[in-house]
Amino acid sequence: MKPIYFKRYRMELDLRRYRPPAALPPGFEWVPWHDSLLSAHADTKYQCFHQEMDAAVFPCLGYPAGCRELMAAIITRWGFCPQATWLVASPDGYAGTVQGIIDDQGHGGIQNLGVVAEHRGRGVGKTLLLKALDGFAAVGVRRTFLEVTAHNEPAVRMYRDLGFRSYRTVYRQIHPPVPADDAHLEPLGAVGLGL
Ligand SMILES: CC(C)(COP(=O)(O)OP(=O)(O)OC[C@H]1O[C@@H](n2cnc3c(N)ncnc32)[C@H](O)[C@@H]1OP(=O)(O)O)[C@@H](O)C(=O)NCCC(=O)NCCS
Repeated sequence: MKPIYFKRYRMELDLRRYRPPAALPPGFEWVPWHDSLLSAHADTKYQCFHQEMDAAVFPCLGYPAGCRELMAAIITRWGFCPQATWLVASPDGYAGTVQGIIDDQGHGGIQNLGVVAEHRGRGVGKTLLLKALDGFAAVGVRRTFLEVTAHNEPAVRMYRDLGFRSYRTVYRQIHPPVPADDAHLEPLGAVGLGL
């Protein structure tokens, strides 16, 4: 089976250039990290990602148990940054999630920023990202980075609008579990680089 390659940008931002988060929409609230929230983050991550192209790049994002394993791996990693890890609560459940990890160079990595589909387009994603950057700045981080799939236009545009710039292009390889010409992989073929 031929692997599929997804083009991704590593984007970075000097934290001296970030701005503080705006207010959330009325009725929405910040929920800071607490150990009891692992499942809430994981379930929200699943809601945000399971129908998105990143679930093809990172298959664990496509099913609830995979999201829980990913969350467990993030929070037990050296460098996990609770200050950059947030949920957004809406009147009808969690609306967004983000986690932060500080690498061995002291740079802050944004992990899995996501907003549940019915709450998109209202500024929640941008505000959530700024909240995570605020958390990194509060613990002395000077530079942040993230990786984004090149064809994820809303996300790439949001990061650029907030000052992130692309410093490197990487190709993430996945091995499709079914033939690459199966119907459900067709849209992914368009965003991946079949080599
Ligand atoms: C990317 C994502 C987090 C944006 O969340 P959101 O709450 O809809 O974003 P916002 O309303 O705060 O919009 C922020 C900016 O994103 C960009 N944007 C949002 N939706 C867009 C769309 N449909 N098309 C193009 N740009 C879009 C715009 O630049 C927008 O700024 P503007 O409103 O000033 O034009 C959301 O689409 C999402 O969760 N996607 C699925 C998960 C994902 O791919 N996460 C990114 C992983 S790297």
